[in-house]
Amino acid sequence: MTKKTLSFFILSFFRFLILSAQTISIETDHTQLVLRVNDGGRLCQTYLGERLSAQTDLAQLAMPQAGLSSSCIKGLEAYPVMGTEDYYEPTFEIRHADGNPTSVLKYVSHSQQGDETSILLKDELYPVEVTLYYKVYAREDIIQQWAEIKHEEKGKVYLGRYASSMLYFEAPRYFLTEFASDWAKEMQMQSQELQFGKKVVDSRLGTRANLMAQPFFEVGLGEPVRENEGTVLMGTLGWTGNFRFTFEVDNQHVLRVVSGINHDAGTYLLRKGEAFRTADFYFTLSDKGAGEGSRRFQRWMMAHQLHKADADRMTLLNNWENTYFDFDEEKLVALFGEAKDLGVDLFLLDDGWFGNKYPRKNDHAGLGDWQVTKDKLPQGIPYLVKKANENGVSFGIWIEPEMVNPKSELAEKHPDWILQLPSRETYYFRNQLVLDLCNPQVQDFVFGVVDNIMQAASPDPSKGGGNGEAAGQFSPPLEGTGEASAICFLKWDCNSPITNIYSPYLKENQGNLYVDYVRGLYKVLDRVQAKYPDLYMMMCSGGGGRSDVKGLSYFTEFWCSDNTDPIERLFIQWGYSQFMPAKAMCAHVTEWNRRTSIKFRVDVAFQGKMGFDIGLKGLSDDDRQYCREAIQEYKRLKDIVWSPNLYRLVSPYEGQHCVVQRVNDDKTHSIVFAYDIHPRYGELILPTRLQGLDAEAKYRVKEICLMPGRQSWLSCNDKVYTGDYLMKVGVKVTSTNDLVSHIIEITRE
Ligand code: DGJ
Repeated sequence: MTKKTLSFFILSFFRFLILSAQTISIETDHTQLVLRVNDGGRLCQTYLGERLSAQTDLAQLAMPQAGLSSSCIKGLEAYPVMGTEDYYEPTFEIRHADGNPTSVLKYVSHSQQGDETSILLKDELYPVEVTLYYKVYAREDIIQQWAEIKHEEKGKVYLGRYASSMLYFEAPRYFLTEFASDWAKEMQMQSQELQFGKKVVDSRLGTRANLMAQPFFEVGLGEPVRENEGTVLMGTLGWTGNFRFTFEVDNQHVLRVVSGINHDAGTYLLRKGEAFRTADFYFTLSDKGAGEGSRRFQRWMMAHQLHKADADRMTLLNNWENTYFDFDEEKLVALFGEAKDLGVDLFLLDDGWFGNKYPRKNDHAGLGDWQVTKDKLPQGIPYLVKKANENGVSFGIWIEPEMVNPKSELAEKHPDWILQLPSRETYYFRNQLVLDLCNPQVQDFVFGVVDNIMQAASPDPSKGGGNGEAAGQFSPPLEGTGEASAICFLKWDCNSPITNIYSPYLKENQGNLYVDYVRGLYKVLDRVQAKYPDLYMMMCSGGGGRSDVKGLSYFTEFWCSDNTDPIERLFIQWGYSQFMPAKAMCAHVTEWNRRTSIKFRVDVAFQGKMGFDIGLKGLSDDDRQYCREAIQEYKRLKDIVWSPNLYRLVSPYEGQHCVVQRVNDDKTHSIVFAYDIHPRYGELILPTRLQGLDAEAKYRVKEICLMPGRQSWLSCNDKVYTGDYLMKVGVKVTSTNDLVSHIIEITRE
């Protein structure tokens, strides 16, 4: 053996020792993910499950072996690539400048600082590196994953796939719950057993991305997802655009879950030295069913993600379903009076206030021309703000700044700002098109829409409004002073998916469109947030077409659905509550399903961020009185309504009732919402057992929000029970009555 060969073997041996010793443990309070470098230098997952008590046990975990090739055993590679020995769905695919479509990523180094772990992987043949990031939210038991991809190649390099995460599971059976959607049918939960092969849940709609599928999933490991028992993986992607989750059961019955931005129609040209950051994937692994997983996600949203999570929220009166486009100054001022009479905090002016050459009289024209329609609202927005304030309510306004009607001055002036194919027939969705947010000029325009409105609505420069800097600050108006305060609330709508997939700005790099669009949107939202940190904003997309957790780092709330039929809402809110906090879920009382009483409709909206979109004149005195009193009760109890400690007690999916409960952190105060839908004749009604209380404590049970002059007929009303009794025996809060609801306050004595 030559000296050279000997030193090669010695070096290889030491490299093997160093690399194979690398074990990286990522831990929350209850979950542990263990990664290990195998003797081929590849990073593999060796464990994902309940947190192990002894760190010494990590060495016992089955170590991925080097086989004929240096792959991971069973292919459990942490970030598998396209074109090697793993034949299943990869996370990463790159086409190098020389056309080679493969890569092998090997471990180089890692660092663990505080709650963040980063692991650097490199290709030995090409100057390509991928850094995997893991951030833990220990108390909430949430793990966040993303990757950063870079290269130093000369020539054109394309990313074919750029997922955020791959997770592996081994269980006898797997059951997926997904959240299918459509307009007015958001978050329909449906489950299926996963068998050998692939199931993909994805979106390719670009803007109104979640119209048909929502970016959430649950997987029951070993058994179907249950509310309070069993091991459940719950995941979501923070990305306001195309997403993709792939669930693949391989030949060894391992479940592989790949999560990330949808790479379909998105082969991304990555420039030399530029870092491509994937979307953030968040997951929790609950061993107490989906209920515990939901509480973790809601706690995490409230502690780390939701914009202005600690700030209050405003109850509101919206005019959309009351007037549609048919309003003028006089009508609006009368509605401010109705808002005052109702006792809500804010009046929200919806679609139809803008456009002059092409006034926005319906949804065929005007979108893009964000100047107030002079003959409809001659005194402009500042006048409306002033009049609303005189009535003691704040003022908010609707915009849809990413979109344009072809019949608009904007489309006439800037056809090159619109996503549309140069030489093909244009396809319209709601008579409109999407602006090209990949283009920085368009980003400036969209930011300007917000900025101009904020400035125009704050006429007093001495209050900082003149330059727009402080115009967004929410200062509740002084009742009766008539002092104009700024607009403090925007409803940001987005009614069309991307229908014509071509960016005039990107020219030959059309594969970058979907990703760059979302990044362009985030650049605009970053600017809005920086300049108007106190502005409240509702994320809306023709209902719940936008509803992701990254979006909610910019928006204070979101519009769950245009469907406000309270029965449908029980299902929609049940679905969103799997991940989303009540404080962010806009729930309005409307005319949908007039067979239900106003009380029933209010009691359903009470569960979320309450608002009204209804003409009050059409209501009876009793109904109006009920609404007023319910709003006052809501304001008194909103901290409990918005508590992330949610217990879903009776599912509307399992019968004709729905019961949910919220409990505050110190278990002194709780609210139970109970609804009977269409119970069967003579149906057996059992007591509902409460959860989350202190067993030792005593609680008074009291039905609140009763119709004027009515008494509670619940047998538990105004009685005192121990927490133990309420949780073990329970109380009857459902009945065989049709469309009846109860709101019950539980107070520690
Ligand atoms: C769709 C939204 O979901 C509605 O609430 C309303 O704002 C309309 N757009 C206005 O065009």
